[in-house]
Amino acid sequence: MSKPIFVLNGPNLNMLGRRKPEIYGTTTLADIEEKVRDRGEELGFGIEFMQSNHEGDLVDEIQRARDEACAIIINPAAFTHYSIAIHDALEAAELPVVEVHLSNVHRREDFRHLSYVSLQAETVIAGAGAYGYIMGLEYLAQR
Ligand code: DQA
Repeated sequence: MSKPIFVLNGPNLNMLGRRKPEIYGTTTLADIEEKVRDRGEELGFGIEFMQSNHEGDLVDEIQRARDEACAIIINPAAFTHYSIAIHDALEAAELPVVEVHLSNVHRREDFRHLSYVSLQAETVIAGAGAYGYIMGLEYLAQR
């Protein structure tokens, strides 16, 4: 069986549904996980889905992905904008990376316009809400 796609989520995404719904919508992370698993199954991908508020946990998971995943879809949340550790882990993973943001970060504060992760991403999807994760899966399926 082929390796799964790791779908990784950074800090505060566990608060989706309650956190600034005018920006992030009312979909919860559990809803997103269900949609991703369903679409993954349709496309023939196993999915490993995780969220952490801790940078090191995400680095550990990216390191594990190097051996155990076929690709990474990551919403690094605030770490996007300043984590060199996540950048370096993604670089070392040598896997296709899809960067996803629920909101259109380019329409928001200036500090959200810089992404360290984009340097390691094949594609970046921002502003499509939860559907961005599905777009990421579809991109990987046709790749
Ligand atoms: C986010 C955008 C980030 O700037 C922010 O820190 C988040 C979520 C998004 O999905 O739109 O926590 O990654």
